[in-house]
Amino acid sequence: MGFGKGFGKTILFGEHFVVYGLLGIPCALGSATTAKVERTSKPGYELVDERPATPGYKETKQGEYTALISRILEFMQVKAGLRITLGGDLVCASGVGASAACAAALARAINDEYKTGWNNEQINKAAFEGETAGSGTPSGIDNTAAVYGGLLLFRKNLQGGENSIEVMKIKKPVEIVLGNTGKTSLTKEVVEDVRKLKAEKPDEINAVFEEYSRLAEDAKKAFQNFDLQKVGALMTRNHGLLQKINVSCKELDELVETSLKAGAFGAKLTGTGRGGLMIALTPGKELQEKVAKAIEAKGFETTKTMIG
Ligand code: PMV
Repeated sequence: MGFGKGFGKTILFGEHFVVYGLLGIPCALGSATTAKVERTSKPGYELVDERPATPGYKETKQGEYTALISRILEFMQVKAGLRITLGGDLVCASGVGASAACAAALARAINDEYKTGWNNEQINKAAFEGETAGSGTPSGIDNTAAVYGGLLLFRKNLQGGENSIEVMKIKKPVEIVLGNTGKTSLTKEVVEDVRKLKAEKPDEINAVFEEYSRLAEDAKKAFQNFDLQKVGALMTRNHGLLQKINVSCKELDELVETSLKAGAFGAKLTGTGRGGLMIALTPGKELQEKVAKAIEAKGFETTKTMIG
């Protein structure tokens, strides 16, 4: 039996913009997906999916997961039959990098079972291969966070070479709240819509991309200075830019507004958007609790966790 684990992630800055080579700042979450693989005599694979998930998530994503698993098996040249059991404490929803966590866990479990001896870089390549099933042209930000963990500075190499990945240390972990819209969106579709919008209105949308580019550099500096007020303000501005590229939705906007009213330092959608999750920066247990309560009072589910 082989075993592997992949972290969930949250994107603090840069979803969608990273697809075009701009700086992204993702962070692994404390919760993870686990994978167990056992060899069987039947060809192909059998999937036992015991992961906790937002209602509807597994149904909407079924096709993506079938492709994800097949691609990883092919990439890692697994020929024999396998029973794959997925589990762990990561609650699967759009925006937590659930598919990347699954891809990383599965690649690690296969590596463990077949004693392949792959390092993080190779595991990350296998996980990326799996991710191409969901996003079509994934930036690699999700699988990188799922494999490496921690707070990262990520930049996709548009020439196809190695992506730039830097681990960023911050003074101490910071509380966040994730608010769940309960809606699942398809990454591939939303990424494609952004591509179309960029082609239809190049001047307007490229200006948004340029603004994001400056904002991301400021965010990196704000993290380095541990200036959380500034980080929060930049997150909220980042949400505004995501609205302009049409990847927010009314539930996400409501979650952002509710968090800010309750005192969050900043808030934005995280991940694909048009559903999925919102992240609010809420330093200190007291503020975290207050923001989570305000969100729950509006009927949404929350997760209280930390970054860094
Ligand atoms: O929804 P998630 O958590 O899988 O995040 C997708 C992030 C995108 O930037 C929208 C796509 C990508 O490949 O980076």
